[in-house]
Amino acid sequence: MFPRSQFAARLASHCGIVELMEDLGSALAAADPGVAMMGGGNPARIPEVEAIWSRVVSDLARSPDALGAMLGNYDPPAGSPSFRSELASFLRRTCGWDVGPENIAVTPGGQTAFFYLLNLFGGQSADGTGRSRKILLPLAPEYIGYADQGLAPDFFVSQPGRIELTGPQRFKYRIDFERLQITPEIGAICLSRPTNPSANVVTREELEQLAGLAAAHGIPLLLDNAYGLPFPGVVFGDAEPFWHPNVIQTLSLSKLGLPGTRTGFVVGPPDVIREIAALNAVVGLANNNLGQVIAKSLLNTGELERISRDLIRPYYQRRCQESLALLDQELQGVPYRVHEPEGAFFLWLWLEDCPLSARELYLGLKERGVIVVPGDYFFYGLPEEWPHQHQCLRISYTQPEATVTKGIQTMGAWLRSFW
Ligand SMILES: Cc1ncc(COP(=O)(O)O)c(C=O)c1O
Repeated sequence: MFPRSQFAARLASHCGIVELMEDLGSALAAADPGVAMMGGGNPARIPEVEAIWSRVVSDLARSPDALGAMLGNYDPPAGSPSFRSELASFLRRTCGWDVGPENIAVTPGGQTAFFYLLNLFGGQSADGTGRSRKILLPLAPEYIGYADQGLAPDFFVSQPGRIELTGPQRFKYRIDFERLQITPEIGAICLSRPTNPSANVVTREELEQLAGLAAAHGIPLLLDNAYGLPFPGVVFGDAEPFWHPNVIQTLSLSKLGLPGTRTGFVVGPPDVIREIAALNAVVGLANNNLGQVIAKSLLNTGELERISRDLIRPYYQRRCQESLALLDQELQGVPYRVHEPEGAFFLWLWLEDCPLSARELYLGLKERGVIVVPGDYFFYGLPEEWPHQHQCLRISYTQPEATVTKGIQTMGAWLRSFW
């Protein structure tokens, strides 16, 4: 065993996301038809959407120019200039955002975008004070994928969501502004919308308040739209894309059904975009071109909007309603609540009085052929233990109907046996 660096210890050790991805990956690889896989963030296979990708990729493969752009070039590290212009005009037209190509950098997925952004604003400060800055998550639970991305220790501070009971079996997290503290050690505020895991869509008022607070403290708000707006648009209410000069946003092609293209975008001020491009060059020279070439052919025709609005959003909304109705039926007699499912791919189940912890439930369900994600992974950086963090499970409903039905029925039967 060779001696290792701090970098290895921090990023390459056995951490939450690695454990989770391996567990989910091996469950998928085992391809055991008996296993109900409801753990991952993989998008569903939607035949109408796959038909579009098939058509677009075969058209592109037949065009020598497109093929050259897709396979034969290293693009500049911020991404293809013509693609960035096209995306900027799309964002101006559909969202009214005041952006040009200088406000956009392409990255290898939203995950990499966040690795860059979190470490641009968190960690040892470059101002000569030696101060180390942290990232504030204003609403825990938050996406597990950020948890191990910090290059510095103690990278996150998170604020538990304030729980609002919204119906007999429902609840919703709100940002607890009364307790939210933006101390001088905070380098950025970070939020996913819709939030993975809870399916919460933070309101415009909450976002305005957060962006205003960030601006008042001279730090950015990092807003992760992986499931959100303007694409793939997996938002079930009437939320709108959000714009504020102090907000740095990310978008991704993954949840449209293209995670294999590894394509994400950062939208932000030109100085940040130049830094993202520099990081791309240092880490990987250039981006994967495939996603940009596919998306470019759909941006100016309005097809990307149509796919998001007419195919993707209705599909997930229907799957969500059906899965929730089944869960409500299967959990009769069990004391439970589900977070208001406002978007993304998940039902977030809260079992406050369950005799088993989330981790024990996860293991027991796995033995019964059902894979879900124990909620404690999504609570990191908390000031103190919160009993709630051991009481939740994330259930993904993107797999085929029969799989989800079987998984929820198995889970319901086991949970009912406790009461
Ligand atoms: C909230 C959130 N952000 C970012 C990502 C990263 O996605 P990708 O790197 O595929 O764009 C995910 C993936 O599941 C996610 O759930």
